[in-house]
Amino acid sequence: MSVIQSSSNHDRIGQRHPNDEVIEANRLYYLGFSQQYDSRNGPRRRIKKHLEQMIAASAARKPMSRGVLDIGTGTGFGLNVAMDALREKATRFAGCDVSPEMLDIASTRLNDAELVLFDGVRLPFEDGEFDLVMLVSMLHHLRDPVPLLHEAARVLSPDGVILIVQEPNPTINSLFLKLRRLLGVRTDEVVERAEYHQFITPGLDPRDLGSVLDQCGLVSRVEYTNAAAVDGFTARLGTWADRCFAPLSWVRNEYCCLNYSIVASGARSAEHTR
Ligand SMILES: C[S@@+](CC[C@H](N)C(=O)[O-])C[C@H]1O[C@@H](n2cnc3c(N)ncnc32)[C@H](O)[C@@H]1O
Repeated sequence: MSVIQSSSNHDRIGQRHPNDEVIEANRLYYLGFSQQYDSRNGPRRRIKKHLEQMIAASAARKPMSRGVLDIGTGTGFGLNVAMDALREKATRFAGCDVSPEMLDIASTRLNDAELVLFDGVRLPFEDGEFDLVMLVSMLHHLRDPVPLLHEAARVLSPDGVILIVQEPNPTINSLFLKLRRLLGVRTDEVVERAEYHQFITPGLDPRDLGSVLDQCGLVSRVEYTNAAAVDGFTARLGTWADRCFAPLSWVRNEYCCLNYSIVASGARSAEHTR
């Protein structure tokens, strides 16, 4: 069953949106966690390489001169990778987030980036301003990802690229959740609500995300990976299984990869960029 229930950004005055509670949980979560976020995650070499490859492949096909936006930039991990990769090409690097504490840390790391605190709903940018819009490990933090995806498509230039990176694979994550339940493992309620499609649901179905992107006039491609796995036993097991089952792509994708990423791009009609 699809966990994506589309709800509009419109008519929010005086009403609570289903995302609001989850956005508040995120603010609270990162208020306490921001100082440890980078050290807990370590150097993230694999995901960095994965992101570098995705950015390089996009930059080889598209102009990228108008700039890059990293939505849910946190402490600036993805934006930093993009700045290193596209410094010569892009004129502007921007990151936005709902957590002031995460952005404070990003500002110590990224001197010349534009860092913007926003409400988690309406991106404070004009239509078609960016050639690359990234959402790195953040989409599962939204209860309903549809409005923010529409916003990402709105600020994207007509020949731009959206990269959704490191989302939990729902098939594998549902097995983890069952195991956790069996072992009686509990996580803090705020953390569970903030990491909504990691703990409350097993994850967002990439096919559902693909159809939302299709509706925005983009063509999307899903890539299942173990790139985000921390070095160690699980990563080695995942990579080994991933290689063994490579010829059986359905088994490989559903059961051997911890995460997926999505690349979306395409020539769009003016109607979609408005
Ligand atoms: C797991 S962190 C990822 C941060 C960064 N992209 C990275 O890869 O290190 C998730 C980030 O998404 C942010 N976030 C949560 N909900 C958001 C929303 N609705 N809009 C923008 N950012 C949001 C959180 O504050 C947090 O900084």
